Amino acid sequence: MNSSLDQMALWNITYGLYVVTSISDGKGNGQIVNTVFQVSATPPTIAVSINKNNLTHEYIEKSNRMAVSVLEEETPMPFIGLFGFKSGREVDKLLQVSCRTGSTGCPVVIDHALSVLE
Ligand SMILES: Cc1cc2nc3c(=O)[nH]c(=O)nc-3n(C[C@H](O)[C@H](O)[C@H](O)COP(=O)(O)O)c2cc1C
Repeated sequence: MNSSLDQMALWNITYGLYVVTSISDGKGNGQIVNTVFQVSATPPTIAVSINKNNLTHEYIEKSNRMAVSVLEEETPMPFIGLFGFKSGREVDKLLQVSCRTGSTGCPVVIDHALSVLE
């Protein structure tokens, strides 16, 4: 198999789309991820893969808190671009969307969210 076929094989992996948010020192941030999956139902446990260079990773590491918004299929590209192509080091993403404060104090994005987990 040559490398271009390898690349095409990757395109067949299915995934969802989520916003993972966290907070540190009173500042919230979030990013797009496609790597949330359920580990167990009891206790309810999920796993997320986050690049260690991301600001969201820094906040999760410091606060040990995160929230996940499960995004609807119709989520528009500008929203995905805000959370997926820009870093919170450059722009305050949460100022530009509807959020609420979750039970752990973590900001939770509610725009385009089918459900949320903390
Ligand atoms: C469709 C899509 C899926 C993504 N999935 C992931 C992912 O699973 N894990 C990850 O660390 N970054 C993922 N990213 C990239 C981050 O969302 C991106 O690097 C973001 O700007 C990081 O923001 P932050 O520095 O504010 O945390 C994805 C981006 C897009 C557009």
